[in-house]
Amino acid sequence: MHLLIPAAGSGKRMGGDRNKLLLSLREKPLLAWTLLAANAAQSIQWVGVIAQPDEWEELKAIVSDLGLNRAVHFIPGGKTRQESVHNGLNGLPDTAEQVLIHDGARCLVSPALIDRCASAVHQYPGLIAAIPVKDTIKQVLPNTRQIQHTPDRQFLWAAQTPQGFDVTTLRKCHEEARRQRWAVTDDAALFEKCGLPVQIVEGEETNLKVTTPVDLAIADFILQQRHA
Ligand code: CTP
Ligand code: MG
Repeated sequence: MHLLIPAAGSGKRMGGDRNKLLLSLREKPLLAWTLLAANAAQSIQWVGVIAQPDEWEELKAIVSDLGLNRAVHFIPGGKTRQESVHNGLNGLPDTAEQVLIHDGARCLVSPALIDRCASAVHQYPGLIAAIPVKDTIKQVLPNTRQIQHTPDRQFLWAAQTPQGFDVTTLRKCHEEARRQRWAVTDDAALFEKCGLPVQIVEGEETNLKVTTPVDLAIADFILQQRHA
């Protein structure tokens, strides 16, 4: 299975002055934990990191320090995650029939979840890891924040990555998105907008996306428990 890791963001919500994936988490850069999980997933034969070229040198040094048993390929990032994944799809080898996409920022993913998604994508050409939401979610009016609607929580799942797709179909969805100027925050949304089914695979509560400083503290705690 081919795995693309979007890692070309800037980490604005983390509030630092650099890509959050380069921040240190238990004595390793955050992205190193994601790469170690990918390396330990038996289903993954090919890894592509999508990153801004001015960070390649630093990232290549991180990769070589880890002594991974698989080569890691580098693909230039775009201005948005969507553009980064689009570049990633163009950087896949011709032999790639299915692809998993996993955010570099979800550094606590287990190798087992990656393997489960890799095996399920043969059955479902569009799938995502997700977990049931714990909060009651409100849909609001954008300006006033007055509540419009409370969707029934039993039907709400929080999207995670890995997300797995048939490569040809996902490429077509990305091209359609460019034509229609759709802007989305995950690839499943492009499948949905094209009218294609996307299946949920049970994700993991600990597979959080490190987004704010609180997430970094929680990730630190979880890694400490795991490696105690
Ligand atoms: N990402 C990317 N290319 C972009 C933007 C984001 O590859 N132009 C990646 C990030 O590196 C991250 C994943 O997409 O691994 C999920 O994005 P997010 O958590 O939003 O990270 P950032 O965009 O870096 O953070 P922020 O939105 O707070 O700036
Ligand atoms: Mg972002």
